Amino acid sequence: MDKFTFYNPTKIVFGVDTIATLPEHLPAGANIMLLYGGGSIKQNGIYEQVKQVLANFMHTEFAGVEPNPKYETLMRAVELGRAEKINFILAVGGGSVLDAAKFIAMAIPYQNGDPWEILVKRIGSTIKEAVPIGTILTLPATGSEMNPNSVISRESTREKLSFASPACYPVFSILDPAVVRSIPQRQIANGIADAYTHVMEQYLTYPADAPLQDRFAESILQTLIEEGPKVLDNPNDAVAAGNFMWCTTMALNGLIGKGVPNDWATHMIGHELTALFNIDHARTLAIIAPNLYRVLFAFKKEKLAQYAARVWNITEGSQEERAYAAISRTVEFFHSLGIQTRLSDYTSDYAGTAEEIVSRFTRRNWLKLGENGNVTIERVKEIVEMSY
Ligand code: NZQ
Ligand code: ZN
Repeated sequence: MDKFTFYNPTKIVFGVDTIATLPEHLPAGANIMLLYGGGSIKQNGIYEQVKQVLANFMHTEFAGVEPNPKYETLMRAVELGRAEKINFILAVGGGSVLDAAKFIAMAIPYQNGDPWEILVKRIGSTIKEAVPIGTILTLPATGSEMNPNSVISRESTREKLSFASPACYPVFSILDPAVVRSIPQRQIANGIADAYTHVMEQYLTYPADAPLQDRFAESILQTLIEEGPKVLDNPNDAVAAGNFMWCTTMALNGLIGKGVPNDWATHMIGHELTALFNIDHARTLAIIAPNLYRVLFAFKKEKLAQYAARVWNITEGSQEERAYAAISRTVEFFHSLGIQTRLSDYTSDYAGTAEEIVSRFTRRNWLKLGENGNVTIERVKEIVEMSY
């Protein structure tokens, strides 16, 4: 295991009915921006609950953060936040609303020009000043509630880029499993697949003498395999929903990736599929991940065989056979969630996608992705073409 520093200041408040504890966590005297998405919180009662609490606070609202939040929309929130001199953002929603809050939080005090540069120049980690954020998570999936990451799209250039800044950890996040009741099946499936792939990005690399990290990862994968389908079958099962929710947070709060090699190439390629075709984030991962494992097989087979044995109980055959069987089981798992795994399942307009992604990566100098820096543009092309 490598040297590491682990820092995570987010206070997690977990459990059914914990949204009621919101007043305890908001800073006294705060001037709050309530940020939310397209209106699901108005249908499931969360908006009413939050508004009752905010009646005792100075606050303003910004609604309409879209899935895969757009720079163009968020800059309107930045203007509003500056005009109203807000000093706290309460984000109520899924990963998109939470990521949007982080961008707005960084952009409001940003003095050096267009805040889009934070993403293009990848300078998030150097920025210390941000408006503090609290969250009520309504869709377990991304881990954004307990991490410093944000992914923002720009409509005008059809780009989707990310940043991370320690200033963006939420101060608190409320994880109330009751929110799962109103989530459509498609989004629950997305949440399972996204969290699953977050674990794989930090686990499915090469052996690194980190047995505890491996077992953290394997236990999250196993729990998602066990609890995920229960939640899909019955979103009212608060016990399964709570276990699912905690898995998604633990999958990307920084803990399991510490001291071990990380991949993340699936995410980087996947973001391009969302930028180009507006495919749900999790589904882009299900399209890319299996083919990335196939193309990088020589470098990942030891870990694939370990994953085969410990997660899928595959113990027969040679190391290579077990490793390939584990890739097939992963694809079957995505299919069992109702998630298709080929680009052509989502668009018929895929010709030239590999070349377009290669040209974007070349322009950005993203030439050595993955845990070994060997996901070259040639390999990216092969992975994407295999995914058609
Ligand atoms: O907008 P509303 O009306 O709220 O509806 C949302 C949205 O349409 C709906 N929804 C959320 N909670 C609900 C609900 N509907 C009914 N009941 C509820 N309780 O679900 C839809 C999708 O929401 P969204 O926030 O877009 O989904 P998700 O949480 O999957 O977030 C995806 C975004 O997060 C980024 C992705 O790239 C994508 O932009 N990611 C962020 C990461 C991070 N910050 O660490 C890591 C991830 O890898 C990912 O890249
Ligand atoms: Zn993801």
